[in-house]
Amino acid sequence: MTDRSFRFTHAISRRPSASITDGLRAVDVGTPDLALFQTHHAQYIEALRDTGAEVTLLDPLEPYPDAVFVEDTALCLPEGAIIMRPGAPSRLGEAAEMAPHLRALYGEVREITGTESYIEGGDILTTEREILVGRSARTNAAGIAELRARVADWGYSVREVITPKGVLHFKTDCSLLDATTVLATERLAASGCFDGYQVIHTTEGEEAAANTIRFNDLVLMPAGFAATRERLVNAGYTVREIGNSEAAKVDGGMSCLSLRFTPTR
Ligand code: GLY
Repeated sequence: MTDRSFRFTHAISRRPSASITDGLRAVDVGTPDLALFQTHHAQYIEALRDTGAEVTLLDPLEPYPDAVFVEDTALCLPEGAIIMRPGAPSRLGEAAEMAPHLRALYGEVREITGTESYIEGGDILTTEREILVGRSARTNAAGIAELRARVADWGYSVREVITPKGVLHFKTDCSLLDATTVLATERLAASGCFDGYQVIHTTEGEEAAANTIRFNDLVLMPAGFAATRERLVNAGYTVREIGNSEAAKVDGGMSCLSLRFTPTR
């Protein structure tokens, strides 16, 4: 067992744009405050860099309000990167904006190209043994099938799972903590998709804490979920809390804010 699913040398993030106020959201709970979002984003970048990673910080993209959520544009594996086809029409163009940055770092970059294929990185959880992809309002069966074809010769097994109804992305409700352990909401784990893994559940009422990232020695988690945080600390993880109040207003979280990888040339 290796630890390539959570140890990385690189990350790419993008600063939030002023247009984040127009970001997609399932429920309107208020307009994100750009200055506070920028402060939280800076804390996030600092945490990634504190682990020793090289972080590429891209400029804001005003035409794409959700472009700060770079994770949805690509899947990064050690062998190469795959450019996604986001299922939200307003986000489709974000993938092409990301491609040249990955081509600068990777020897091989592949693309999801089918006109009926839709898939967003937020629906993809890469573990040591497989790639789980949640079918959702943003990710369809054609997108998952095309991803499976793109990574087959790299030896990856892609397993289609279901993102719970009303939940934006599969990883809205889960995250990888180490080679054999995930953090997940009870509602997602109840589907059985994590049979064979160790599961730490978010506590009742703290479902929004499920979207963390394990990045090298740190687990970055949204601030304000004390009971779930305690479960992670008691399990031996080093937790760094990051403010997420503004990203949460547009359904964003820790994983959405970066692409994490160790590129090979
Ligand atoms: N606001 C993030 C998304 O809906 O993709």
